[in-house]
Amino acid sequence: MELKVGSEAEISTWEEVTLVYNAALRQMDTRIGILIDEFQQVHRYNPIEHTKGRVKTPESIVKKLKRHGYDATIENMIKYVNDIAGFRVICSFTPDIYKIAEMISNQSDIKVIAVKDYIQYPKDTGYRSYHMVIAIPVFLSDRIIDTRLELQIRTVAMDFWASLEHKIRYKFEGNAPGHISKDLLECSHMVSALDERMMELNEEIRAVMENEGESAQEETAEKETETVAT
Ligand code: GTP
Ligand code: MG
Repeated sequence: MELKVGSEAEISTWEEVTLVYNAALRQMDTRIGILIDEFQQVHRYNPIEHTKGRVKTPESIVKKLKRHGYDATIENMIKYVNDIAGFRVICSFTPDIYKIAEMISNQSDIKVIAVKDYIQYPKDTGYRSYHMVIAIPVFLSDRIIDTRLELQIRTVAMDFWASLEHKIRYKFEGNAPGHISKDLLECSHMVSALDERMMELNEEIRAVMENEGESAQEETAEKETETVAT
């Protein structure tokens, strides 16, 4: 029996929401995990610091629907909330973000629905991060559901800024005093400069290591020739 291709619109209960979106997160977790293993084994370099996935709480989904003027129904949450499943990938350096985004986009069964590059185009708050809304297949007993997931990819420094800004915004319920918003924006510029400097340092270190690797290889080759000659 061939599995029928279902759609998120068929989800009709909160239990199904939890099942399907949690499954989407597990899929994502496995795929990123495989990439990490490959990076470690093949390239001896792991660009991912850590990951975190979550299904949005019902309270937070209802709040978001209300904010956008929709009734709190299962149908509306599936239709209008892109981040019921949210997955965050924290990378070491900015170029790693784009590498991970490309690797995920290239997976043939993943559909990229939307991309927001808040690194190239930061938000007015100073928020920087790379966002993708993707659809990932979830295999159930009798159907496949392409399930939307919001993927946020950012550096450790961007994440540090975002978590503090989030706390402050929450504390002041979105109305932080002007000087705090201004300081946050300034910190965001500092984070950006820090990311740049760290990336440059890392590139320098890698170049030195590659050189050393080459010299070591040359030395081994020389020793091998010597052994053969003697
Ligand atoms: P919502 O902002 O969630 O209503 O969705 P949206 O459709 O506007 O998408 P957007 O890409 O703007 O934001 C998605 C998510 O990114 C948010 O839920 C937050 O987790 C995060 N985010 C966006 N803007 C900011 C920001 O200024 N500061 C922080 N800390 N996080 C942000
Ligand atoms: Mg928003």
